[in-house]
Amino acid sequence: ARMYRRQIICRSDIDSLNAPFLAIFESLIPPEEEKAKQKQLITLLERLVSKEWPEARLYLYGSCGNSFGVSKSDIDVCLAIEETDMDKSEILLKLADVLQSDNLQNVQALTRARVPIVKLKDPVTGISCDICINNVLAVVNTKLLRDYAQIDARLRQLAFIIKHWAKSRGVNQTYQGTLSSYAYVLMCIHFFQHRRPAILPCLQEMETTYSVTVDDIECAYFDQVEKLRDFGCYNKENIAQLVWGFFNYWAYCHDYANAVISVRTGSIISKRDKDWTRRIGNDRHLICIEDPFETRHDLGRVVDKYSIKVLREEFERAADIMQNDPNPCVKLFEPY
Ligand code: CTP
Ligand code: MG
Repeated sequence: ARMYRRQIICRSDIDSLNAPFLAIFESLIPPEEEKAKQKQLITLLERLVSKEWPEARLYLYGSCGNSFGVSKSDIDVCLAIEETDMDKSEILLKLADVLQSDNLQNVQALTRARVPIVKLKDPVTGISCDICINNVLAVVNTKLLRDYAQIDARLRQLAFIIKHWAKSRGVNQTYQGTLSSYAYVLMCIHFFQHRRPAILPCLQEMETTYSVTVDDIECAYFDQVEKLRDFGCYNKENIAQLVWGFFNYWAYCHDYANAVISVRTGSIISKRDKDWTRRIGNDRHLICIEDPFETRHDLGRVVDKYSIKVLREEFERAADIMQNDPNPCVKLFEPY
């Protein structure tokens, strides 16, 4: 009954909100010196790792690598290593040992975590860093997100604002049943693919110019994104209109009962086609976001019957603020 409840016409003063939203975006961008410090830390890690494993490589993934990182983010690193006679826990313990020897703080191997990692903090820069082993799919989906960001500048603007909103409102915590930053960025990409005129293409439906096979999953898409810089030019919406549209979409237009958003196909597919209609184990599929490569993964699987209510109320609150509040740029981000 909540679906398609009303046809809402955007407020008439929406354009006046563009400058303040752009200012929020700008304020979230990491300064160059912060980027330089991150590079410095990576270089140090590479040097220490190569002493023990000359063949191993370090890759950035997550927000530092996908261009959706706001200022003061932690960095996510993946150690790619072909080590046949050691299991993951042993590698992590060894890695922690190798890194400890230099002047890094709090080097900890968390071998029992859902995703086992080594955690550390660089005392010089204050940057925290998580290192996982051979999570190549994350490295590839990081590249996909980065490539999408290069097609239209508005994607980074919207995603920064949505991530900032989600953190302020406490709905960016997977351990509490709300969504990851990765899921929110996919929601933004889907929204841009779905907009008319579209702002983003579907790279995985285009000619393959980049292809890797990871854990039997073929990851293939068009990555010559510099050729797509004009793709979104028929859509003239500014960031304020898009923030309004995003919340409106998730508050009133998305079909939670039947629809799966799929960046992979650039469209909406049905829960029935994916066999995501029933609860299996802890997967409830109350909001369905298909991973672009691990297509059996629903990034909404962390959402339960309580947190779905929280999420949908937050979308409705935000849509209402964007529609009616005299000062949405403040109200939207008020701590919960
Ligand atoms: N990831 C994934 N599958 C998930 C969650 C995350 O593959 N279900 C990978 C993605 O490569 C993602 C990275 O892990 O980019 C980090 O996830 P997350 O912390 O959600 O995103 P960040 O972009 O690092 O956001 P933040 O700025 O909040 O740290
Ligand atoms: Mg991160």
